[in-house]
Amino acid sequence: MDWVASPVRGLHGELCVPGDKSVSHRAIMLSALADGTSRIRGFLEGEDTRATARIFGQMGVRIDAPSPGERVVHGVGLRGLRAPETLLDCGNSGTAMRLLCGVMAGQAFDSVLTGDASLSKRPMRRVTEPLSTMGARIETTEAGTPPLRVQGGRRLRGVDYASPIASAQVKSAVLLAGLYAEGETFVTEPRPTRDYTERMLHAFGWPVEFGPGKVRLSGGHALRAVDVDVPADFSSAAFFIVAASIVPDSELLLRNVGMNPRRTGLLHVLRAMGADIAEENRREAGGEPVADLVVRHAPLRGIEVSAQHVADMIDEFPVLFVAAACAEGTTTIRGAAELRVKESDRITVMAEGLRQLGAHIEEAPDGAVIEGTLLQGGSVDSHGDHRCAMAFAVAGAVAGGAITIRDCANVATSFPEFLTRASACRLRIDRVQCGSTADNAASGTVMRSQPED
Ligand code: S3P
Repeated sequence: MDWVASPVRGLHGELCVPGDKSVSHRAIMLSALADGTSRIRGFLEGEDTRATARIFGQMGVRIDAPSPGERVVHGVGLRGLRAPETLLDCGNSGTAMRLLCGVMAGQAFDSVLTGDASLSKRPMRRVTEPLSTMGARIETTEAGTPPLRVQGGRRLRGVDYASPIASAQVKSAVLLAGLYAEGETFVTEPRPTRDYTERMLHAFGWPVEFGPGKVRLSGGHALRAVDVDVPADFSSAAFFIVAASIVPDSELLLRNVGMNPRRTGLLHVLRAMGADIAEENRREAGGEPVADLVVRHAPLRGIEVSAQHVADMIDEFPVLFVAAACAEGTTTIRGAAELRVKESDRITVMAEGLRQLGAHIEEAPDGAVIEGTLLQGGSVDSHGDHRCAMAFAVAGAVAGGAITIRDCANVATSFPEFLTRASACRLRIDRVQCGSTADNAASGTVMRSQPED
């Protein structure tokens, strides 16, 4: 599916973005492994998180969906999963595959984790290696990519693991295997990453000690069912935060946004660029800080993005590239090599796309140097990467002409209602048949569909 994003004037209104993807995955996983019944509210109805729920269904966990965004999970206990009859398909989701790898390593039965074309190219040794030192046996392809064949019935032992990568997925895979291990598991990270696994283990009654960049737990306890309230996903809100910042005459109110400090690095960076973002009504919901954000248009200027913010905004770089391309002056990004192994190589995909729109961007192995400019209309390829597709759609709001964005179907992995929310705040994005151009979209010769939920 392609989109055509057209220039607009001011963005206005109030919106709520859907539930946090990271929290939704973990809520399904821990409630499935808990004793008792947990209710999850605000669950993200995205393809990625639904894949995680489907996988636990394949292993005998009953998960009811009484209403959209709600799941009732009938936990089977830490050792209650049943051997699946087929492959466990994680779709596009790196989080599902890497975290599940840790869970499956502790089971009594064998399993195979697979994924789509993008996930099948992503590096998995970052999790299989530490899990092997715990006693797990997991086969990858020769290139270290999926499918992952996880042997069951292994005895796991705790590990003291100094992760070379700042990755919440790696940390979480080791911790989840640690639930099944004898003795203590201790993980340290080169920079602190999102701590949802730690917080949620604590909420489910598992003894866990953690602070920025380090966490310790031991095996042999039990998870007790609790209800989980999922905050709105900061990474989904980020597209609207940047859109309202760069489109003149905009003022948007984003309600109930998750403000975990390990996720909100983009706010520091945008404010340093001159953005006008106010936080109102700061509160706690479901053990997580949340706030309403009021974002008004403001002229942005280029900055050097400090490597210290990279982990705290790892999913926000595609849309930061757009903000930087619209800012006055030069923005320099370094220390972000991880972007090359996300759902796409996000440095190349964003640099190539923005160059098509007239931006001047120099790539570096671990970042880019972006000169602000007035973007033009044109045609770009998201390479099936949900966040790149939505970032280019934001660029379309301020470009000199419409932008055709190829291959947008994967937006459904994280934000299926993106087009509805976008049109509610006056962004203009049309779905068109593959291969159409901005010109024939504008002349009405292509299928123009209403945004859908
Ligand atoms: C995630 C961690 C991040 C992030 C991903 C979700 C998680 O990946 O990019 O979208 O839920 O733990 P890394 O841990 O590989 O950086």
